[in-house]
Amino acid sequence: MKKIFVTGALGQIGSELVMKMREVYGNDQVVATDIKCPKEHEVVGSGPFEILDVTDAKKMHEIAKKYEVDTIIHLAALLSATAEKNPVFAWNINMGGLVNALEVARDLHCQFFTPSSIGAFGPSTPTDNTPQDTIQRPTTMYGVNKVSGELLCDYYFHKFGVDTRGVRFPGLISYVTPPGGGTTDYAVDIYYEALKRGEYTSYIGKGTYMDMMYMPDALNAIIQLMEADPSKLKHRNAFNITAMSFEPEQIAAEIKKHIKHFKMDYDVDPIRQAIADSWPNSIDPSAAREEWGFKAEYDLVKMTEDMLSKLEKKGIKNDSEIVCAK
Ligand code: SER
Repeated sequence: MKKIFVTGALGQIGSELVMKMREVYGNDQVVATDIKCPKEHEVVGSGPFEILDVTDAKKMHEIAKKYEVDTIIHLAALLSATAEKNPVFAWNINMGGLVNALEVARDLHCQFFTPSSIGAFGPSTPTDNTPQDTIQRPTTMYGVNKVSGELLCDYYFHKFGVDTRGVRFPGLISYVTPPGGGTTDYAVDIYYEALKRGEYTSYIGKGTYMDMMYMPDALNAIIQLMEADPSKLKHRNAFNITAMSFEPEQIAAEIKKHIKHFKMDYDVDPIRQAIADSWPNSIDPSAAREEWGFKAEYDLVKMTEDMLSKLEKKGIKNDSEIVCAK
């Protein structure tokens, strides 16, 4: 049975991945860590939890050793827009945390996962159906971190035999924990605002396509890749995966099918727009399909239905009690 160590466990991916992995592998098998520790959080209450700043290499090693972990899921990182505001801080957290986690994996012989991103591509990358192996010259600090991270993980595999694996996530959409400081976050915010106010002002401009994925598919992808037969993996760090590609008008139109009065306008944020413009319109996930059977279940239609109904159940609703058309 795996014993899994997760950093960034209270973040957008971590807060759901920990609960899912505890379901699959058992509550005590998943050690959650995060820099903060809110008292009433299901991740904190349902299994082992430790406070950890990922730049503290010694403490990271101590926790991993104490629980005798054999798998590390390193999620703690700053997202693209936040990284752009404070690039040196982002380098220190994103790269410092990663090398610390890889060193623990090397010393304790752990399997290792960390996410890369569509942010690992740049303006000179082919923009449509972006291949698995292609030009990666990103122009953001986040992208620089992600490419460096992919290379570093490959290096630890070749040099030290650490079983490193990763995916390039598109924008992730979920109803549990909001993302913070990403460029693709508009595609999460829009659902909350549609329910709360019936309108949304998009900071990403009309016609800007980006890849996206609903969180349940992202969680399955991590588990599936970590369980995949290593002899089938020609790539490791990191696989293109995606579930859908859309631009703001398309997600708005889909929401409008459920909330008839929904309206969207634009107030484009030049920083996040420039980041989005440097990323692909759509990426090709065929290597992930061929090497470990990746398949997404949710498209825009199915995700929108589920997202709105889950948010409604969470009590996100219009103050004036306008009921959504079903
Ligand atoms: N969702 C991330 C961001 O927008 C991209 O991986 O920063």
